[in-house]
Amino acid sequence: MTLKGRSLVTIDDLTTGEIGAVFSAADEMAAAIGEQSKLCKGKIMASLFFEPSTRTRLSFEAAMYRLGGNVITAVDIGATSLAKGESLSDMARIVGSYADIIVIRHPWEGAAKVVADYAGVPVINAGDGGHQHPTQTLLDLYTIRKERKTIKGLKIALWGDLKYGRTIHSLVFALAKFGANILFCPTPGLEVPEHILQKLVTEYGGEIEKCKPAKQTGEEKVFPLDAIYTTPTSSHQLAMMPDVNLSLDLGKGVDAIYVTRPQKERFEASESELTNQYQVVDKKLLKGKEFRSTLVMHPLPRVDELAYDLDTDPRSQYFKQAAYGVPVRMAILALLSGAKPVPVPENETTEVKVAFTVYNRDSGLKCSNPKCVSIQKTELKYLRPEFKIVNREPLTLRCVYCEHGFEPKYIASTEWHEGKVINKKYHPSDSHWARTIKPENLIIFASAADAEAQGFKPNHYMGGKH
Ligand code: NCD
Repeated sequence: MTLKGRSLVTIDDLTTGEIGAVFSAADEMAAAIGEQSKLCKGKIMASLFFEPSTRTRLSFEAAMYRLGGNVITAVDIGATSLAKGESLSDMARIVGSYADIIVIRHPWEGAAKVVADYAGVPVINAGDGGHQHPTQTLLDLYTIRKERKTIKGLKIALWGDLKYGRTIHSLVFALAKFGANILFCPTPGLEVPEHILQKLVTEYGGEIEKCKPAKQTGEEKVFPLDAIYTTPTSSHQLAMMPDVNLSLDLGKGVDAIYVTRPQKERFEASESELTNQYQVVDKKLLKGKEFRSTLVMHPLPRVDELAYDLDTDPRSQYFKQAAYGVPVRMAILALLSGAKPVPVPENETTEVKVAFTVYNRDSGLKCSNPKCVSIQKTELKYLRPEFKIVNREPLTLRCVYCEHGFEPKYIASTEWHEGKVINKKYHPSDSHWARTIKPENLIIFASAADAEAQGFKPNHYMGGKH
């Protein structure tokens, strides 16, 4: 099989077998980086970077040049017609007619999916707001695998801004896919969003154990463990003692600590002080025996959260990690553009995907995430809001664009009682109706006013027992 023609919007787009194929191709690229110039000869990559970037853009562009291809680029949204009010879908159609493959970074969450839906050529998400950054994840995994030979069963600590870090939001699912355990160590106030934890459990199995807030006990620093994800196949030993000093309960060591910078550009106004609580990762913090051979990783750029004293430490991986960006992205470009067919073992191509009912009825419901592409003025004209129903109790929807989860408040059924219009009633979504209405008959409203504007009346028991 080949990956030709496929887009890479989220890390879910690749199975473990396909990721393995990317890594094999990356090994080949790295082994003979100067000898690949025939692979993408004559092909054009459009490099659209509408947020700051050094590593991702330059490594993608270097990768395409190494493959013998050409690059057209736009880096300033103000210099494109998006600034004139053009929609992403129109831009995607046009750029797709000029280039063979598109790499896009954009501040709106879900933007890469829209571009992929309309471009007609493979699209690679190089970061869409705080949503995902799948190619960073591939080189993160590649680094871990190079050092540890496997990812299965490892204990990986994620450190810093787990709320807005898109590298984190892709990496957690990849780690879960490969059977690693995750230690969530956020800066207080920047915990990983609930919808991500929920997706981990419902779609990847395993368990999440929440830990009590970290405290300082005298001189002894406690690892700020907020939650632990244990992979389905691992022992539950960790999860049973989540709240103890890490040196006690992680005696066998932490395999990697993945540090991230505060994503200040995505903070709400009320969050501006959170960086004061950021705990710096330095030699002193990593002096315990559980960190003796811990890989110190960072997607970079770093600001103040990772001390320079670790740069010469043999545990540090971050510069090597960034350098892997070129062979890994060469592999992705070569595979998705069809320049290189790489066999994926059949038994590794199948992954169990949870099939959720899709809700896309026109009932006025919109994604609740203000950064979602689907609610932006230029995109509203043609995008139809669409959600996966990921839970019935409580009723929980996940936007197909930005993947934020939310719990809508009101519901109704398309099959009103005895078919009489007078019986068009709406109900609180936490009433027993939410369980009895068949998914295909469900109408979901953002507010009671929306339900009433569409001719539904409150049911008798609203506000009382339901
Ligand atoms: C990351 C990003 O842009 O999300 N950088 C990168 O691509 N290497 C991380 C960051 O900016 O903090």
